[in-house]
Amino acid sequence: MLVALLPGDGIGPEVITQARRVLDALAIDGLTFEEALVGGAAYKATGHPLPPETLDLAKRADAILFGAVGDPDCDALERHLRPEQAILGLRKELSLFANLRPATLFPELADASALRPEVATQIDMIIVRELNGDVYFGEKGMRKTADGKREGYDIMSYNEDEVRRIARVGFETAMARGKKLCSVDKANVLETSQLWRDVVIETHAEYPEVALSHMYVDNCAMQLVRNPGQFDVIVTGNLFGDILSDQASMCAGSIGMLPSASLDSNQKGLYEPIHGSAPDIAGQGKANPLATILSAAMMLRYSLNMPAIADRIDAAVAKALAAGARSPDLGGTMSTSEMGDAVLAALT
Ligand code: NAD
Ligand code: IPM
Ligand code: MN
Repeated sequence: MLVALLPGDGIGPEVITQARRVLDALAIDGLTFEEALVGGAAYKATGHPLPPETLDLAKRADAILFGAVGDPDCDALERHLRPEQAILGLRKELSLFANLRPATLFPELADASALRPEVATQIDMIIVRELNGDVYFGEKGMRKTADGKREGYDIMSYNEDEVRRIARVGFETAMARGKKLCSVDKANVLETSQLWRDVVIETHAEYPEVALSHMYVDNCAMQLVRNPGQFDVIVTGNLFGDILSDQASMCAGSIGMLPSASLDSNQKGLYEPIHGSAPDIAGQGKANPLATILSAAMMLRYSLNMPAIADRIDAAVAKALAAGARSPDLGGTMSTSEMGDAVLAALT
């Protein structure tokens, strides 16, 4: 089994190093790694954020473990050369349309959440985010209006097949958990969302056991802070899911805690923390590697069929936190590698 390691930029390589240490310590039979450049690092070396060799490796691999991309030096480049195009390109080229972003609070971190502990400890949910469509991938550009003003535009659209396949992932995910699905949209304003809602309601007929509700995205942002415990599974579009998952991460203690899986229809997947390259702390050993370590666990569970080893990683993270492992984002002083040490020490 081949794992493609794509560390990327900023804190990406720092957190991937720790996930790799954990995977190495598990000495998993038959697991091999190949690393490639991606994002700003790839642009600087090859002139392209997603070089053909990197895309080829991603296609050949059984699973991809991804750090983060994004580099302030590249923010003025033409859009197709920017680091972020690498992750968008991988998601699209590999048809990774289903992004699972679990948000749970390790009880030891109740004091790290921005919410009161009795509110925060209720959070145990998965955001199912569509990843191949929406305003991210519609026509976009800059143009001049009739009176010569600059105008930027990005077309938002979803077709019914795109909505149906992610709705099914939402319902399936709910069936495997608490059987509650909340579909989040903006159907009071957007036609895209009206279609989204109609198709989710149609798809519900295939999953009569699931309790389906609908919520407007603005209300959802509020409800996540008011009472995150009300949610089991949220299914939503690409842009709303991006924003709501960063918000949910703070309910769960820190953005440095949330892993993700981006899956195609055959469970091939790319695994990455939900956070970015964090240029503000890159190179300082301050990054929390736990989201990436937990992403490696998701990889073992979803793509490599090794749920028992995945459980061992999750348990080691819980044990390390219980023993007091805290990076600065969690209110502590431990470095990135000390956090990795703590997880290694807790592996049984
Ligand atoms: P970010 O997630 O990189 O950082 C937001 C804030 O959270 C920063 O203050 C950062 O220091 C902190 N943070 C993030 N991860 C952390 C961790 N593991 N431990 C401790 N603190 C952490 O978001 P941003 O600052 O808006 O974006 C920075 C760059 O990353 C941009 O170029 C953006 O496009 C890119 N980005 C990439 C991905 C990805 O590769 N999937 C995701 C999000 C953002
Ligand atoms: C994420 C990021 C990406 C997104 C960016 C870097 C393209 O924010 O993975 O959450 O918007 O999907
Ligand atoms: Mn994001």
